[in-house]
Amino acid sequence: MRTQITELFQIEHPVIQGGMHYVGLAELASAVSNAGGLGMITALTLPTPDDLLKEIKRCHDMTDKPFGVNLTFLPAFTAPPYPEYIKAIADGGVKIVETAGRSPEAYLPALKEAGIKVIHKCTSVRHSLKAERIGCDAVSVDGFECGGHPGEDDIPNLVLLPRAAEELSIPFVASGGIGNAQQLVAALALGADGINMGTRFIATKEAPVHQNVKDAIVAASELDTRLVMRPLRNTERVMANPAVDKIVQIEKEKGADLGIEDIIELVAGVYPRVMQEGEMDAGAWSCGMVAGLINDVPTCKELIDRIVGEAEKIITGRLTSFL
Ligand SMILES: Cc1cc2nc3c(=O)[nH]c(=O)nc-3n(C[C@H](O)[C@H](O)[C@H](O)COP(=O)(O)O)c2cc1C
Repeated sequence: MRTQITELFQIEHPVIQGGMHYVGLAELASAVSNAGGLGMITALTLPTPDDLLKEIKRCHDMTDKPFGVNLTFLPAFTAPPYPEYIKAIADGGVKIVETAGRSPEAYLPALKEAGIKVIHKCTSVRHSLKAERIGCDAVSVDGFECGGHPGEDDIPNLVLLPRAAEELSIPFVASGGIGNAQQLVAALALGADGINMGTRFIATKEAPVHQNVKDAIVAASELDTRLVMRPLRNTERVMANPAVDKIVQIEKEKGADLGIEDIIELVAGVYPRVMQEGEMDAGAWSCGMVAGLINDVPTCKELIDRIVGEAEKIITGRLTSFL
């Protein structure tokens, strides 16, 4: 399958693994890239820029295919040293960066100077257009279904993607709620040039997370995610668990008076406990509605081959038969 995205990133299949905190490490990024997709190391999971550079080197040792680094701009009180992280990315010879969280405008000159292609992940048409205007090479359009931060507009991909297609000139991938071949075909039909997946890639053999996390995703249905932190305008789609029930309860009680301090223990410092120790109820962790479509734990190669292979069959078989 050749699309503008496979051409832009010099990859075999139009399938990207989005950055994921405590999941997007060299094991997963290299496995996705070796399977012909685009793997992504998640910069801020590495505590320092120096650690990121080491992780990039580790990934180069595991694949000779292109891979990227996700750089998430957080609403943090003390911002991480982004210029130093960008230097580590450039020094590591990585040529693709997925930005997310906020506009990458301030950092684009440094990224471009290092010859890096930027795909910005955002949840609305207006933010996609801004990304295009400031010089991003592509956009990842993240619909309401997505695991992680769906924004505050609540527009699902069946409407968001064709809206993006109406307005954008740069290529974009569909992100959020995607896990199988039918959805890749649908994304292409809706105007995208590929797909970005998060939750689906956690339930793979190579994802460096505790088996409990993979089992929880396989066991979950599409009804098992919740939205938290909406009153803080930092909405996150997470896997339902008792800690999340507690957050939802606190949010109900506090209403507009909710402050981050009211729920901080249930949302901060949770990722290492969940992803590494397998403490599934430690707090809120991102998970998409696509969990309802995830029923196995394949290798990344099995998964990508299946999605792309079946998509080609759908296009040449079922769809063509209608003509
Ligand atoms: C556990 C988890 C952690 C994530 N962490 C990040 C992150 O640190 N930065 C980021 O830009 N996106 C993050 N995401 C979002 C993904 O990159 C991707 O956009 C999203 O998962 C797509 O939706 P899907 O899960 O339905 O495929 C995370 C998603 C999950 C499930």
